[in-house]
Amino acid sequence: MGKLTVGVVFGGRSAEHEVSLVSATSILKALDPERYRVVPIGISKDGRWIVHEKALEWLKENTVPDRFRCAVFPEPEESRLLIVEENGGNVSFRYSPAIDLFFPVLHGTFGEDGTIQGLFELMDVPYVGAGVLGSAVGMDKVVQKTLLRFAGLPVVQFLSYTQEQNPLHVKGEIKEIETKLHYPIFVKPANLGSSVGITKAHNRGELRTGIELAFQYDRKIILEQGIEPVREIEISVLGNESPRASLPGEIIPSREFYDYEAKYVDDGSKLLIPAPLPEETVKRIQELAIRAYQVAGCEGMARVDFLMRGDELYVSEINTIPGFTMISMYPKLWEASGLPFSRLLDELIDLAMRRHQARKRLRTSYESESDWYRRTTT
Ligand SMILES: Nc1ncnc2c1ncn2[C@@H]1O[C@H](COP(=O)(O)OP(=O)(O)O)[C@@H](O)[C@H]1O
Ligand SMILES: [Mg+2]
Repeated sequence: MGKLTVGVVFGGRSAEHEVSLVSATSILKALDPERYRVVPIGISKDGRWIVHEKALEWLKENTVPDRFRCAVFPEPEESRLLIVEENGGNVSFRYSPAIDLFFPVLHGTFGEDGTIQGLFELMDVPYVGAGVLGSAVGMDKVVQKTLLRFAGLPVVQFLSYTQEQNPLHVKGEIKEIETKLHYPIFVKPANLGSSVGITKAHNRGELRTGIELAFQYDRKIILEQGIEPVREIEISVLGNESPRASLPGEIIPSREFYDYEAKYVDDGSKLLIPAPLPEETVKRIQELAIRAYQVAGCEGMARVDFLMRGDELYVSEINTIPGFTMISMYPKLWEASGLPFSRLLDELIDLAMRRHQARKRLRTSYESESDWYRRTTT
């Protein structure tokens, strides 16, 4: 069997661009060169695609030469990328190798939200992780929580507002919020990750500034009942139709909550792997995680995060492309459950191929008995 050509996509138009570069570094290192031929595909912060051996290095150092462009064909049977290079007045073109599979290692907008997954669907190339729907659901905290609640899964009380309904501009609305939720209240943009734009509001003043901040990042925000005291439990799920869950892990943030600094900048946050929990709680978390994964339409992989107070468990969020460095929770939990990093990558790639094959078997056309559409004139 020949090697599989894997297009690893990283960077991206997202507040989590840098996180993606770190995840991609680990994945590029761990992909087995005996099995895979890697085509690195970097996406700059302004959305330019760079297909080049040095793409990761350039993005990290912020030295991407602006002479590269890349064209992607939205048609099945053509999975080569057209690399365009401009040198002075000269423009040259060449094709990348045909991509057998895409591995998006992108966090946040335009990577984890279904947009790039839609492009891969059009190209009809297999790709790792959730499809368009699962990705979009995973990205929108309001839609996600609404679905989970409807399916009977435990989620915290929450309210949501669009920019048009901004509670700062509606008389009495802040008081109304205070009758439905009590402090601390978490204020978040609906569609971001890595804790960007999130405020833990302890009082009315902080609620107001939190709402203002969240609206700088998104046109829709969510206000959540803060859980206190809280334990943060995370668990890794892997699979398509019959997903399985790893052992859970626990986060001990270095700060008041697990904000951007606590996640990436400080060294003080701790991961406990596995989480010190009784066996029956572990089982309950695994069951809830798998149900949440299925309700949200996930495939391939996701990390499901929980908030825990005493015995109460709440599904907090689903990340369809979780952090993926060697020391990130998602791969670490699998390692602790007997699946090392490289084999996890093999399995994700295998799941992507299987989903694609299963889709291929579906009918995509319907032969009508009549030629009704030819007679349609308006
Ligand atoms: N309702 C809540 N109660 C207590 N802590 C919360 C709540 N919501 C968020 N947090 C804290 O904020 C962090 C980030 O929130 P989260 O919803 O996970 O956003 P992100 O998608 O940016 O990771 C969590 O890891 C947790 O520390
Ligand atoms: Mg989170």
